Amino acid sequence: MAGTGPDIQYIDTTRPHPARVYDWFLGGKDNYPVDEQLGRQIAAIDGGAPKAARANRAFMRRTTRALAAETGIRQFLDIGTGIPTEPNLHQIAQSVIPDARVVYVDNDPIVLAHAGALLRGTPEGVTEYVQADARDPRSILERASGVLDFGRPVALSLIALLHFVADEDGAHDLVTTLVDALAPGSALVLSTMTADFEPENVQRGIAAYAAGGVTLVARSHAEVGTFFQGLDLLEPGIVSVADWRPGSERADDGPVSLYGAVGRKPSL
Ligand SMILES: C[S@@+](CC[C@H](N)C(=O)[O-])C[C@H]1O[C@@H](n2cnc3c(N)ncnc32)[C@H](O)[C@@H]1O
Repeated sequence: MAGTGPDIQYIDTTRPHPARVYDWFLGGKDNYPVDEQLGRQIAAIDGGAPKAARANRAFMRRTTRALAAETGIRQFLDIGTGIPTEPNLHQIAQSVIPDARVVYVDNDPIVLAHAGALLRGTPEGVTEYVQADARDPRSILERASGVLDFGRPVALSLIALLHFVADEDGAHDLVTTLVDALAPGSALVLSTMTADFEPENVQRGIAAYAAGGVTLVARSHAEVGTFFQGLDLLEPGIVSVADWRPGSERADDGPVSLYGAVGRKPSL
């Protein structure tokens, strides 16, 4: 695996960063006191937040496994990768398809700092890391095309990413640009925050993130549906991430505040 982009970037430890707060929720060690402080604050307001982070990670594992095992897709583009947490997406995909090709993308320098050490793939497969901003999708497509053949199906994952991109900052434009570039048979895997289930807790959490300098957007079921226009939703459609084909991971303690879904681009 190789990383691209600047070698050294400044890691700001004075302000919380989304990737590091998420790492703290998952029980990781790649976070700073300022991230833990905000994580604790959010968990005090919304006790379901750490559970939602774990359920989201499990959604990533189940959707990746399902796509690798059931669709014949052998290429993966994961934007908003986060700090590596085993098993990572490439490990799941390559455990099913050893020569799967995977490109990871994130804009946080701490993810870049960890990418080289942790994102190692199978000898047959390819795992690449690109440091880029999701709001510049054309640049991502260009840089990923060194590894991925966009003439063949790709699984594009935007997992727990879009709640960091407001509609006015181009959330729909970035999804449309990326999906338009994918071949028929490709898939879009998406999860994003919602206030549909626990409106008060989620709005208080959003306010705490905002006080920490992190802007978050909650979207309704109908708003999440607009990202899947022109795609065929796989069963069970747009549901709480905990309810997407949970299998043995099914929990009886209610939905978590993230919607998740998988859509396929129809064949021509
Ligand atoms: C909550 S983590 C999700 C990690 C992983 N996708 C998962 O679901 O387990 C969100 C990630 O999105 C990244 N991110 C946020 N805004 C971004 C942007 N505009 N461009 C690229 N990455 C972004 C953050 O740096 C962070 O690593």
